[in-house]
This record gives sequence, structure tokens and C-alpha cells, in this order.
Amino acid sequence: MEEPTTGTTAMMVPWLLLLCITAAATSGALQAHAQLESNGFISIDCGLPGQTGYVDKTTTLSYTTDAGFIDTDAGVNHNISAEYITPSTPTSLHSVRSFPSGERNCYTLGSLVSGLKYLLRGKFLYANYDGLNMLPMFDLYIGVNFWTTVNISASDVEVYAEAIMVAPDDFVQVCLINTGGGMPFISGLDLRPLKNKLYPLANETQALVLLHRFNFGPTDSHTIIRYPDDPHDRIWFPFVDVENWVDITAGEKVNILDELFQPPQEVMQTAITPRDVSENIEFTLDLESFPRDHSLGYVHTVYFCELQEYPSSNALRQFYIYRNGVLTYLQVYTPPYLAGDFVNSLKPFQASQYKISLNATAKSTLPPIINAIELFSVISTTTVGTNSQDGAVTHTCMLAR
Ligand SMILES: *[C@@H]1O[C@H](CO)[C@@H](O)[C@H](O)[C@H]1NC(C)=O
Ligand SMILES: *[C@@H]1O[C@H](CO)[C@@H](O)[C@H](O)[C@H]1NC(C)=O
Ligand SMILES: *[C@@H]1O[C@H](CO)[C@@H](O)[C@H](O)[C@H]1NC(C)=O
Ligand SMILES: *[C@@H]1O[C@H](CO)[C@@H](O)[C@H](O)[C@H]1NC(C)=O
Repeated sequence: MEEPTTGTTAMMVPWLLLLCITAAATSGALQAHAQLESNGFISIDCGLPGQTGYVDKTTTLSYTTDAGFIDTDAGVNHNISAEYITPSTPTSLHSVRSFPSGERNCYTLGSLVSGLKYLLRGKFLYANYDGLNMLPMFDLYIGVNFWTTVNISASDVEVYAEAIMVAPDDFVQVCLINTGGGMPFISGLDLRPLKNKLYPLANETQALVLLHRFNFGPTDSHTIIRYPDDPHDRIWFPFVDVENWVDITAGEKVNILDELFQPPQEVMQTAITPRDVSENIEFTLDLESFPRDHSLGYVHTVYFCELQEYPSSNALRQFYIYRNGVLTYLQVYTPPYLAGDFVNSLKPFQASQYKISLNATAKSTLPPIINAIELFSVISTTTVGTNSQDGAVTHTCMLAR
């Protein structure tokens, strides 16, 4: 059973506290890694030549080269083909590092705090960097645990792999594995510390791999919300369907009190509702064919907030929430006015497809609304490395730099 939970207090104090712990536990490494930002972010532009990074204008984040995170003789730097560079192509995707030799090549990110939660993101834009026009497919591992398969479906498609995980150690390795489907490459790697209360189903034994994170309401497919609007730098992609849905935008601030997911204000201030008010909201999202082991299931979070004042005193917005045709929240649901709310998985569910239906009750005078949705698959992080020296050696190199 799932229930919406509404938090009570904002998390200013624990956030600061987390920063202090991070800084204290890693002060030695901080000196070695000037690129580690004060918020604990690590933003790596793979394949960027030299030693100096830059500040990205759009996100205001400091990007660093990948020197120091991987052996200098591992991989080859390339620039993507100029024809793929548009004004909206992030600078951090202009170069890649590719791995013509070795079945397994790993980046090591240090300065983590064992037991704390992190968002880890790999970014991949092929953009014919090698001039061969051959779209590769390869695997990603977090240490020795399978993370996901990177399937580059088109030259110009930005592929993101994201995991929310608890660090088992004070470093994490991201490994690219050549599985015979073409040469692995990578454009960028991001690490963001998260408060441990966030995403409670990510824990010491399992990580959450992002399949979809959609913000409903924007009508422009380029409206992407991330840092600094989202202090955790999650990337919220717009789900645009102007034919069937109208967008609602709040003129006022939404109260976001929850401590479990903390969606950004900008995401909660927009929602969609059916264009035809007698219709319901229903859509299906792909469940990727990865992970290979589906037994750990999937988890979702669906975000709601009433953004409109009811037009009259007998107006009511009330609906049922179904997942694959089965009630997922057992009661009728009414989104709270200008307050962020959510319905989330309390444990992983099994599914071969993911269909969400928000169906108005007979009493409801207003159609359903939805603000955002996140869907993850669950992977195990319990595999223990057989060659523990691998990590240890690289790690020592890192800290010695
Ligand atoms: C990529 O482009 C930059 C800037 O134009 C240049 O300095 C660098 O050498 C190029 N890298 C490669 C691998 O060609
Ligand atoms: C990889 O992507 C291609 C193109 O989108 C698709 O046809 C293929 O089925 C995908 N492969 C896997 C294993 O998902
Ligand atoms: C992680 O969560 C799963 C439930 O989804 C639970 O079975 C497992 O025991 C938890 N692990 C830890 C270390 O709490
Ligand atoms: C929800 O409403 C849609 C039509 O809008 C209908 O097709 C579907 O069967 C309903 N779902 C449930 C579980 O009643």
C-alpha cells in the first residue's frame, strides 16, 4: 500500500550539517581536488584537454577535466563533430573520452563519505566523435555492480544514466564495459551529495536507477529544470502533449515541506489537466529492458499540488490513482492547495509495463491533475569485488595527487 506523506519542516539545518560532515571527513582530499565545489558537487567534463576546467554559464557549476579521475593512459580524447554542436548543446558534452583498449575502464571519484547518499550521473553524446557513424552499446557498472546498459539510439541524442545510491566506501568507481557492441565512450560524470532522508528506498543494499523523470506543464520541449532551480541538480525533463493536455501554472509559491523528495518549486508550480474536462489522465512509460535482473522491481513517486482556487464552493477535484489498473493509493485523492504532495512506493513493485491512470471520482467536478513523476528500477549493490585491490590502488593514486 502506498500513501501520500506530507512533511512538516524544511531541512535547512540538516543540509548545512551534511556539508560540515563532508568537509571534515574529506579535508585532505579537498586540497588535492580544488575542483570539488563547496556544495560537494563533482562535475567532470570527460575528454577535455589540459588540467583546467571552466564555469558553465547555464548551470553556474564548475566543470573539471577528467585528469585525476582516471589513469592518464586510459582512453583517448575526442571532440564531437562540429555539425552536432547547437546553441543548446551543453559545453560539457563537446568532448568525450573513448576506450579503444581494455574490456573495463573505470573512473574513480574520491572525497565521498561512506554511508551517505549520492546522485551519480553519466552523460553520453555520441555526435559522431570518431567519424565512423557507428552507434555503440555498452554497459556501465558502479564498482562491480551492474548499473545499466548505455544504448546510443541516435548520434544527436543525449543519453543520461542516473543512479541514487548510498556510498559503500569513501570513493566510488564508475566502469565502462565493452560488451562487443561498439567502443565505450563518455561525455561527462556528475556526483551530487543528497541528504540521507531523500529517496528512502535507496539504501546500503540497493540503488535506484532512473528510467523517467518528467515535469508536467511546460509546453516547450526545451524547458529543462536542474541546478540551481533544483539544489540537488536532478534533471527534470518536460513531458509535452499540448494536443491532449492544458498546462496550469501557479502564480503563487508552492509550499514544499516534504523531506523525502523535495521537488523544486519550478516543477511543482506547473501541472497538466485534460483538455477535455470529462477525460482522465492516463499514460504509459517505457520500462527499459535493463536491468537484466528485474526481480528487484521498480519504484515511483508521483507529485501533486492544486494550483487553482476552486471556482465555486461546491467544486471538487478528486480522483483515484491506479498503477497498471490497480489502485495504488487506496483512498480517493484530492491534491492540497499550493502545497507539494506526493504518492510514492513504500516498497518496490513488479511490472512488465508501467501505466498510470488518474480517474476522476463521480463526485469530482474538476478533472485530475499531475505535476511530476519519477520512475526508477531497483538494482542490487551488494556484490563484493573479487579484486578489491583494483579499487584500492586507484584510490590511493587519487588521494596522492
Ligand atoms: C578539441 O577542441 C579544443 C578546442 O578547439 C582543442 O584545444 C583540442 O585540442 C581538441 N581536442 C582534440 C582531441 O582534438
Ligand atoms: C538500442 O536502441 C535501438 C535504437 O533505438 C533499438 O532498436 C534497440 O532495440 C535497443 N537495444 C536494446 C538492447 O535495447
Ligand atoms: C533496503 O530496502 C529494501 C526494501 O526495499 C529492504 O529489503 C532492505 O533490507 C533494505 N536494506 C537495508 C540495508 O536497509
Ligand atoms: C480510468 O479511466 C479510463 C478512461 O479515461 C478508463 O479507460 C480506465 O479503464 C479507467 N481505469 C480504471 C482502473 O478504472
